[in-house]
Amino acid sequence: MSEISDKTESVSFNINGEAFEFPVLTGTYNEKGIHIGKLRGQSKYVTLDTGFKNTGSTASKITFIDGEKGVLQHRGYPIEQLAEDASFLEVVYLLLHEELPTQAQLDEFVAEMGACRDLPDGVKAVLNALPDDTHPMGMLSVVFNSLSGFYPGTLDTWSDEGVRKKAIYRMIANMPTIAAYVYRRSQGLEYIDPDPSLGYIANFLHMMFGKVDPVIEEALDTLLILHADHEQNCSASTVRFVGSSHVNLFAAIAAGNNALWGPLHGGANQKVLEMLEDIKNDGGDTAKYINKAKDKEDSFRLMGFGHRVYKNFDPRARVIKKYADKVLDQLDTDDPVLDIAKGLEVAALDDEYFASRKIFPNVDFYSGIIYRALGIPVNMFTVMFAFGRLPGWISQWQEMRENKEPIGRPRQIYVGESSRDYVSIDKR
Ligand code: SDX
Repeated sequence: MSEISDKTESVSFNINGEAFEFPVLTGTYNEKGIHIGKLRGQSKYVTLDTGFKNTGSTASKITFIDGEKGVLQHRGYPIEQLAEDASFLEVVYLLLHEELPTQAQLDEFVAEMGACRDLPDGVKAVLNALPDDTHPMGMLSVVFNSLSGFYPGTLDTWSDEGVRKKAIYRMIANMPTIAAYVYRRSQGLEYIDPDPSLGYIANFLHMMFGKVDPVIEEALDTLLILHADHEQNCSASTVRFVGSSHVNLFAAIAAGNNALWGPLHGGANQKVLEMLEDIKNDGGDTAKYINKAKDKEDSFRLMGFGHRVYKNFDPRARVIKKYADKVLDQLDTDDPVLDIAKGLEVAALDDEYFASRKIFPNVDFYSGIIYRALGIPVNMFTVMFAFGRLPGWISQWQEMRENKEPIGRPRQIYVGESSRDYVSIDKR
């Protein structure tokens, strides 16, 4: 854990008339965190914060989000600039190595990726063993977990530096192949193997569709950047938590992938498209769906709206929204749900229910419209999210390890039965 940056600042809790002092960690942008590491030892009290809405899990140097202002930075670089000017592999390098690469460093990184992008054939056998209608995210989790078997000698990613680097590079290098194989399997199509002459994203499109369209290649590169990391979100926190048991990296990533699958997290991008299709099939009646989302008796939520941290526009949604128009135009296609999405956004933002709760479109709201325009089916949307997020998960795991953070093990307050004696079954 980063050192307390300002040892002079502290806060005092008064518990039963006794004062307990706790140091305050001040972040780069003056965020304040009360270090309560000694709270229970000194006072026997613990804090309770279901869902960790007010609780920081770590001090991190990877990503900064200002939810009130709609700011997102990776290692200090604004997401808008990275999306506009960087390549996805540059951002991967930045997340993993803390600095943007020089041209020589990028060339070496690309060469190392290329050298280990072939997947063992056994991965195809694993995919073929799954039922045809397995969800692609389920397929992806199975493959992530299987890598610990296909790459023997890469289990000790915690203590062996060479093993760690090989596992990290193999995961990044294999991701396009894994995602494409999952797509081909889920569509019942023959696999297309990697073409070593192609670049990272171009090879992915080759393995997906058997052809490479430069417009799609450029759009995907930008979309992957916009999904690369997002500080302590549910899936990244899962990777850090599971990784804190010192399990191998493949298993920790598989756990994070399962967390991302959930409809409240990465699975939302699929749900957004399904919701927009429902609205379209319902004659474009956005008011009906907005009222459903506001109805506390109805479990329906406006998918792609709201965020635990952003209480302003998700900056990624701004970029993707602009991009949707551009990509659809470039592909000379249109998608009626794009207009429905824009109309839904205006109607929701005008509505007091959403405005008062500061509920804005998030990264998932427009991304699916672009994925679909690129020829990617709805059930693959969250796999694309995982594709982009993989370097973020790995960089969060790396930082947890470098911080020497202890195994995650929260406390609780027990509110069950008090002590009682066993009663034999004939007396119950
Ligand atoms: C991602 O954490 C990250 O950074 C995630 C992510 C990343 O890059 O890793 O940004 C990616 O997961 C984006 C979020 C994708 N999920 C969705 O679009 C699903 C729909 N959104 C919601 O379910 C919700 O907004 C969450 C889950 C995203 C956030 O929920 P919170 O922070 O727990 O907020 P909450 O559920 O306590 O909601 C507060 C209020 C409640 O109403 P009241 O109790 O005050 O009356 O806002 C309401 C909620 O009912 N609300 C919504 C809503 N989102 C919140 N009401 C209707 N529709 C919504 N979408």
